[in-house]
Amino acid sequence: MPTLARSTTLYTCQQCGAVQQKWGGRCEACGAWNALIEEVAARPGPRGRGSRARRPIAFTALEGDVSPVARRMTGIAEFDRVTGGGLVPGSALLIGGDPGIGKSTLLLQVAAALSATARCAYISGEEAVDQLRLRAERLGLRAAPVQLAAETAVANIAATLDQPSGPEVVVIDSIQTLFLEALESAPGTVAQVRASAQELIRLAKRRGFVLLLVGHVTKEGMIAGPRVLEHMVDTVLYFEGERAHQFRILRAVKNRFGATDEIGVFEMTDAGLNEVANPSALFLAERERDVSGAAVFAGVEGSRPVLVEIQSLIAPSSLGTPRRAVVGWDSGRLAMIMAVLEARCGMAFGAADVYLNVAGGLRIGEPAADLAVAAALASSASGRPMPPETVVFGEIGLAGEVRAVARAEARLKEAAKLGFTRAIVPVRRGGGGGAFPGIALTEIAHVAELLAMVGSAPGEGPMERRAQHG
Ligand code: TYD
Ligand code: MG
Repeated sequence: MPTLARSTTLYTCQQCGAVQQKWGGRCEACGAWNALIEEVAARPGPRGRGSRARRPIAFTALEGDVSPVARRMTGIAEFDRVTGGGLVPGSALLIGGDPGIGKSTLLLQVAAALSATARCAYISGEEAVDQLRLRAERLGLRAAPVQLAAETAVANIAATLDQPSGPEVVVIDSIQTLFLEALESAPGTVAQVRASAQELIRLAKRRGFVLLLVGHVTKEGMIAGPRVLEHMVDTVLYFEGERAHQFRILRAVKNRFGATDEIGVFEMTDAGLNEVANPSALFLAERERDVSGAAVFAGVEGSRPVLVEIQSLIAPSSLGTPRRAVVGWDSGRLAMIMAVLEARCGMAFGAADVYLNVAGGLRIGEPAADLAVAAALASSASGRPMPPETVVFGEIGLAGEVRAVARAEARLKEAAKLGFTRAIVPVRRGGGGGAFPGIALTEIAHVAELLAMVGSAPGEGPMERRAQHG
């Protein structure tokens, strides 16, 4: 094909991989709509395409010497834990999050912290140098030796970074503002985002600098363009939180150099982000005692136990289809728990609106929260508060059985540390003998046993429940 001899723009279908020379709304090969993405065709190498000699690869054993990587620690413990123990030279990280959530602030703080021991550059395509200086001043970081630049052309950035004494840590804020001149599409499009990132990541690997890419999450909840960056980088962190709350959570969703379920908790202040060393205390700080519809869940996020309050409200509905609204938990899981409570325990949600909220803006993914959700629902339905100073955890199966969950000891220990004295937990296999220092355990095998404690008052429903359960 004569057109391949020059550097030229081609369009690749993201569904089937077919390559076309003209853009169209629809892929000619597979018929997928809006799947064609602009790409620059690779220039053939100097020796031409045909002359690439094949060379057998050499296999080696799993066992062998590995040189330990010296990681760059920021000293911001919440950040270092989420990255798996510091930043790995030559690696690329993507920090995603909604606009305005605090990504620039976090990364300026990270760059400033690292600048004590490494050459750090902060390149912004979104803000002018003056704005960055103002932020640094507000954060009290004016004296940190971070090199600032406002630039969006990838070619200029790459040429600057590709030097022997170039920076060792590079922040790009944000990848959506960068562009390669070779591409016709506008900055922020999938093609530009992907090609820009590719170029910088290749350079980071070659030069051995840490590359921190900021990526805005689009309305659809994905980093633009749709997940194209996630597989290219070594680590993906999401910075999240409810805008109305002052907590921010940094969560690892992919990490080639550490665990993926770690979270770091920060608090927003006028002077920037502060680490929260004890998130449980923070999440429970505004808790009201003796109200119905609330249960304290003893959860585990990554390597750390976190206590959080789960709130529920059941209210008569004025709608034809009652509302089921969930914040901070999976709505499918809520539907399942409600179905189990109805089918196995005789509870009736009927035409009521059901609201469930994880207080403080945390998002929980653990099935271990099932029992706490059931407790909040039952307490809301009956109007009876949970027994005081009680934590709850356990997974619920479809038959209503309560299943054991991992890290029970760590959960109970955290609860004891925060002054809780009781826990409703799954029956513990292999003993423990129903005791834990400082905590009175109520071990249950079926969710109906929970309802006996916090469900409807005797006489209203237990008969039904017994019939179902026994
Ligand atoms: P910013 O870091 O610019 O968010 P992003 O880069 O994700 O778009 O922060 C948004 C706004 O919030 C900004 O006006 C500064 C303010 N802010 C604080 O006042 N304190 C904080 O701790 C943080 C994180 C942000
Ligand atoms: Mg920003």
